[in-house]
Amino acid sequence: MAITSTDEDWWRTAVVYQVYPRSFADSDGDGIGDLRGLIDRLDHLALLGVDVVWLSPVYRSPQDDNGYDISDYQDIDPTFGTLADIDDLVAALHERGMRLMMDLVVNHTSDEHPWFVESRSSTDNPKRDWYWWRPPREGMAGGMPGAEPTNWESFFSGPAWEYDEASGEYFLHLFSRKQPDLNWENPEVRQAVHAMMRWWLDRGVDGFRMDVINLISKAPGLPDGVVQASGLGDGTPHFMNGPRIHEFLAEMNREVFQGRDSKVLTVGEMPGATIDDAVLYTDPERAEVDMVFTFEHMDVDHAQTKWDLVPLRLPALKAVLGRWQAGLADVGWNSLYWNNHDQARAVSRFGDDGAWRVRSATLLGTVLHLHRGTPYVYQGEELGMTNHPFGGIDTFRDIESLNHHAQAVGLGADPEHVLSSLRSRGRDNARTPVQWDDSPHAGFTTGEPWLPVNPNHDEVNAAAAIADEHSVFHHYRRLIELRHTVPVVAHGDFTMLLPDDEVVYAFTRSLDDVELLVLANFSGRAVQPDLDVTGWTDAEVLLDNVAPGSAAFTGRLEPWQALVLRRSQ
Ligand code: NOJ
Repeated sequence: MAITSTDEDWWRTAVVYQVYPRSFADSDGDGIGDLRGLIDRLDHLALLGVDVVWLSPVYRSPQDDNGYDISDYQDIDPTFGTLADIDDLVAALHERGMRLMMDLVVNHTSDEHPWFVESRSSTDNPKRDWYWWRPPREGMAGGMPGAEPTNWESFFSGPAWEYDEASGEYFLHLFSRKQPDLNWENPEVRQAVHAMMRWWLDRGVDGFRMDVINLISKAPGLPDGVVQASGLGDGTPHFMNGPRIHEFLAEMNREVFQGRDSKVLTVGEMPGATIDDAVLYTDPERAEVDMVFTFEHMDVDHAQTKWDLVPLRLPALKAVLGRWQAGLADVGWNSLYWNNHDQARAVSRFGDDGAWRVRSATLLGTVLHLHRGTPYVYQGEELGMTNHPFGGIDTFRDIESLNHHAQAVGLGADPEHVLSSLRSRGRDNARTPVQWDDSPHAGFTTGEPWLPVNPNHDEVNAAAAIADEHSVFHHYRRLIELRHTVPVVAHGDFTMLLPDDEVVYAFTRSLDDVELLVLANFSGRAVQPDLDVTGWTDAEVLLDNVAPGSAAFTGRLEPWQALVLRRSQ
């Protein structure tokens, strides 16, 4: 059964749930999650009440970057299942009124993709120009340090160019050397991508989450970047939001999305996109994408790089999120997220994952879901899953962490210091298996999990959460229900209050004669918000993470308390 919808705007009241398939549920005991495992667990998502599942890549892949390196866009990796399993997943989701959003990774392919294999085979191969091939820097021999065509650093450490001895040229890879960048200047590349996307839509999927999609247009001439501490250049000004990006997205929209029976949901992952960029990307009149994932709020607790940690200051977080709310108030739309497969667990990062785990997880959920935009829940977030107690470097699996460790230690950094930032910020924190119950591998697998289960699964798990009506799970369920039933949550205006307050996050939402006040205490001590609350003390308490069902706001917030109040004029 296909979901057909004539309501072009259905996604504005929707909540999306992200599945990282490797770590969600394993049906065959090989220790790696798969599509059958996901299908078996769909009732969990239905109970939570989400509308859309975003599925991280399940395509055929050598798994150098856990599936973000794709060698066949139109087949499923045997680790995860088959095309028939995807068809069953689509049917099972649609039966439950949910939709499927696929990950679309087209800034790069795997180096094992037949396109790249051909491209690499000779300098005059018809697909040579499908990727970025360049000779060594003038006057230098290929393979020598510094002979790379530009000084750009890869996101996964080291130079963004790999030397190919056979042809004497370098190819560009902004991520790992097994992820060569496609050349979007070549119209054949764009047409091949469009055809592949139409094939998936014809198969019944409902949308695309577009991986680093604002990196696909590179500046002509590929200029060098400013040299950084690593000794390599920052190429980002030359490929983030590049010169032809809007043209490429508008063309994709025209060629793939327009004229279909149902509105296709699209979200662009866009590191380095400013609010002004986002207005252009998400203006419905321009027909590019519905919303973007910004990174600005993920940058508030680090200095130069994501590994240089600084403590969170709440005013900085409020300033960023408040600016995005205001910036997209009239034109465009926000996506809202704390967690995904690339970020450490928010409850460990912005909350208190010890004594106040449940409270701070429910507080974070409340704050996020009461903003204007489309909220994303990352698997396990609805259970209040925390960072993992990682040990030495041999306990990490992620290529980004492993490469960073090798590079930083190689440049003389203190290994303990490097490890401590990996433990706080490494992507493996998000990738430990979902904790379904308190059995030895948390009900994730009957085999040996590819990444160990967090030892706190005897307490933190889905079975326990579903049985406890005060759990993080039920709080998220209530938040999702609010968005579906109370129009001001999805559509109301947003006004930030107390921007400088170090512990209280406060804002209002309003639509017609209904107004909400959201108050959240980001601390482990009770506080009295410095706010004129006249007119709110007898308002209805719509949601309270401390005393569900409480009758009124007393003017005081308990540790990590989050309240949603409603009044009508
Ligand atoms: C962003 C994805 O979210 C991340 O997991 C991946 O490593 C890079 N893009 C490269 O595809």
